[in-house]
Amino acid sequence: MTVLVIGATGEIGRAAVAALSEHYDVLGVGRSTTPAVDFTRPETLDALFADHAPFEAVVVLGGEIPFAPLSELTRENFESGLASKFLGQVETVQRGTAHVADGGSFTLVSGILTDHPVAGSAAASAINSAVNGFVVGAAPELPRGIRINAVSPTVVTESVQYHGAFRGFAQVPAAEVAQWVLRSVAGEQTGQIFRAGW
Ligand SMILES: NC(=O)c1ccc[n+]([C@@H]2O[C@H](COP(=O)([O-])OP(=O)(O)OC[C@H]3O[C@@H](n4cnc5c(N)ncnc54)[C@H](OP(=O)(O)O)[C@@H]3O)[C@@H](O)[C@H]2O)c1
Repeated sequence: MTVLVIGATGEIGRAAVAALSEHYDVLGVGRSTTPAVDFTRPETLDALFADHAPFEAVVVLGGEIPFAPLSELTRENFESGLASKFLGQVETVQRGTAHVADGGSFTLVSGILTDHPVAGSAAASAINSAVNGFVVGAAPELPRGIRINAVSPTVVTESVQYHGAFRGFAQVPAAEVAQWVLRSVAGEQTGQIFRAGW
């Protein structure tokens, strides 16, 4: 059976696809792939599940969050980040649960900003915290032994565009984050937030 990776074209997603492919068949998707998934159009999730399920596991390593000074963050900024990174992951779980095998799993992504903010991260910190809260709250309700965890990376070595904002933070190679994804998929734990690199 196949592991679905949403966000497979990103820095972390590419590393996760490489690590998972050593053990599983992997279907990697993003907005720019065929098939495509766009969290702002939830019907694309339904089409993906209808055409390609069942899955042994579903991994989400995508979604966008806004960065801006608190005084400039708009309601639209929050709504776009919630629609993409938060509701995108929530709806993946809600719409995907029926298409995941017994004993399968969901692995979501949050990030270090939940606990260690940087300038401009108020929305990102909040949205990542919401993802972690969803994992904790959803885990006991998933049926048929299906597990759910989040991987929460510190800043990734390859994501050089972020390094200026993350001065003094430990960095973690995307390949190491991918090992936490593999641990979530292959392991037994549920309702956990796996801190990758911090
Ligand atoms: N990189 C870091 O240092 C770091 C640290 C902590 C947490 N994170 C979190 O980890 C996740 C992945 O980060 P990354 O750096 O690997 O991201 P990235 O390189 O920017 O890639 C983002 C991925 O998400 C997909 N995506 C974006 N918007 C989407 C949408 N609306 N619907 C479906 N897919 C969408 C993209 O697909 P397309 O390319 O096809 O558009 C791409 O595959 C993000 O949630 C990020 O906040 C990253």
